[in-house]
Amino acid sequence: MTKLQKLLSVAELDQSMVNALLDTAEGFYKIANEPSTKLSTLKGKTLVNLFYESSTRTRTSFELAGKRLSADVVNITPSGSSVSKGESLADTAMTIDAMNADVLVVRHGSSGAAEYIQKQVRARVINAGDGLHEHPTQALLDAFTIRKQKKTLTGLTITICGDILHSRVARSNIMLHNMLGNRVRIVGPKTLLPSEAPYDVETYFDLKTAVKDADVVMALRIQSERMGTGNLASLREYSKTYGINESVLAWAKPDVILMHPGPMNRGVEVSSSIADGPQSHVLNQVSAGVAVRMAVLHHLFS
Ligand code: CP
Repeated sequence: MTKLQKLLSVAELDQSMVNALLDTAEGFYKIANEPSTKLSTLKGKTLVNLFYESSTRTRTSFELAGKRLSADVVNITPSGSSVSKGESLADTAMTIDAMNADVLVVRHGSSGAAEYIQKQVRARVINAGDGLHEHPTQALLDAFTIRKQKKTLTGLTITICGDILHSRVARSNIMLHNMLGNRVRIVGPKTLLPSEAPYDVETYFDLKTAVKDADVVMALRIQSERMGTGNLASLREYSKTYGINESVLAWAKPDVILMHPGPMNRGVEVSSSIADGPQSHVLNQVSAGVAVRMAVLHHLFS
């Protein structure tokens, strides 16, 4: 098993590291959800959240994960920092590094930004989402949620639905499930699918065929902020053709689980009744996020 030095991409992980991270997260799960309990793994270490894009789940769960492991945690966003005065990405990263940060958790709108920062700094960098590229800890927490429900992480059929083209979540999940031996299907309008699927996926345009007998249905957010005109005729049309509701899930296996990385556009990607229904594991994904991020931090420093 390779030792974790940074986490920029799922490509840095192998199957044994993924299993080790998920096993560690399993051990942390109770502590992650019990604010009164802390571990001393990161005592004396400093975690800096450097978020150039908005986030609720990822930023908060990294902050909680760091605090549960006794790290000092600092949050930096462009509006309250010298980024708003025009400081470059490299200068900002090197400035934080000069204050002896141990780990930099980076979210940025440009693909490759986390890797670029890792080249400038001594601190270990975790990619918390870079442009259209990757979101590796999201894929890990999704895998944790799937394993908890299905009691296995291999031989499953996983259907990823919607805006695959702009989704770093889809890319990291596809890479991870290719590695783990799951069958990955992608489905959506032609304009929101990559013209050449870069990984081992089955591509569908028909939702019913893509969802048939699936173990997991993962809906993705329509990323309007990354789209040009012409990607999508209308949200109403999208929702009619690709929105996940009860009748769509009925095509999948009876014990199918519904996932969504959030934030959800209710009534567009998923109906409200299914998002809040018994097949939905959206909030379990959020709870898993703290434990999985604790596990990643633990493995970086253990
Ligand atoms: N899934 C995810 O990355 O959510 P946030 O943008 O809220 O962090």
